Amino acid sequence: MTVDRRWEPLPDPDDVGEDHELRTAIRAEIERDGPISFARFMDRALYEPGHGYYRRPAPGPGRAGDFLTAPEAHPIFGAALGRLVEQAWAAMGEPAGFTIDEPGAGTGALAVGLLGGLRRLESPLAKVVRYHPVEVEPARTVALRDRLEAAGVGDALAAAPGPVGAVVANEVLDALPVHRVVGRAGGLRELLVTATDDGGFAWVEADATTGELAARLDAEAVTLADGQVAEISLAIGPWLRDATRHLERGLVVLVDYAKEPADLYLPGRASGTLRAFARHAVGADPLRHVGRQDLTATVDLAAVRDAARQARLDAVAETTQAELLAGVGTTALTDAWLRAPAVTLQDALDLRSALMRLMDPRGMGGFRVLAFGRGLPDGVELPALRRVRPER
Ligand SMILES: C[S@@+](CC[C@H](N)C(=O)[O-])C[C@H]1O[C@@H](n2cnc3c(N)ncnc32)[C@H](O)[C@@H]1O
Repeated sequence: MTVDRRWEPLPDPDDVGEDHELRTAIRAEIERDGPISFARFMDRALYEPGHGYYRRPAPGPGRAGDFLTAPEAHPIFGAALGRLVEQAWAAMGEPAGFTIDEPGAGTGALAVGLLGGLRRLESPLAKVVRYHPVEVEPARTVALRDRLEAAGVGDALAAAPGPVGAVVANEVLDALPVHRVVGRAGGLRELLVTATDDGGFAWVEADATTGELAARLDAEAVTLADGQVAEISLAIGPWLRDATRHLERGLVVLVDYAKEPADLYLPGRASGTLRAFARHAVGADPLRHVGRQDLTATVDLAAVRDAARQARLDAVAETTQAELLAGVGTTALTDAWLRAPAVTLQDALDLRSALMRLMDPRGMGGFRVLAFGRGLPDGVELPALRRVRPER
């Protein structure tokens, strides 16, 4: 996700307030059981039914919300992913039954871009594809299905995921709960969340709540420096297993901001990558604005690859968002977009500036695209994922 700075002056993130009921409930849990892991705090802050940031009826991502994701920036992103899925469909022999499942579909922007893009590009997949968007909050699933209907692609909606097809997820892994740890000479410790006398929350250092945290860092040959803070997600494995459970044959595409462990846990990165987003500003304190700000951490690429292996997925390819767009062919996408009869000069300018943002390697263009498969033809190569040769 990226902070959208086109609207000035920026609203004050403190205006978002907090969910008092949720704060009280989390404090009650701490008073009863003692300090909780940040993963537990994050899980409740984001996903508590009726109160969590992603369980409120109003959408978070989007122009009217707190940050902008790639599919919200422009439908061309969904169209590019559609091309990639189309190539997998072709490699699979163009099966007549083909369902795209999208966990964490947010407001439906990716679904609209992808399905609309297949139609604009006159893809034969458009005639057979079914789409199954999923959100944690049932009310949001209803709203996003309405959005697909309004966009004229509702006829593709499926009631359930299918055994043959694809799973696509944009910026979902970074929204899964993370533990917060700190390196110490005597071994790994964990930063837990405790309740303070003034009614808020604070960090408290304690023994790790689970041996899985040290095991993960050991497996990645990472040793944190003394005092170095870092985040570890133990939720990626269970999430990926669940998200791909139905898939017998097809492609899995995960897009997110992610780093190799050697970079993610670099000793210079002393305070980790945990960030809080509210109203297009990166908030300073993840323990404030409970239920009203998004919480996110950069994804560990090695953890995703390991989760994929455990979920019986085969590695297909890895690339970046910029390279994916280049691999699909921005000229073909742009031509298809600008061919539409009612297109205006402003549409053309918006598309051009969106492509610059989506492909900027220092921003969203640097997001990682990880493709896995299950039951795909051996050695399958998808042209959209061909790495772009570096400049000489
Ligand atoms: C940062 S938002 C991204 C939304 C959308 N994919 C986009 O790119 O605009 C993360 C989304 O993942 C959803 N999410 C998190 N865990 C999920 C799960 N287990 N199943 C389905 N959705 C989930 C959240 O509710 C949230 O809408």
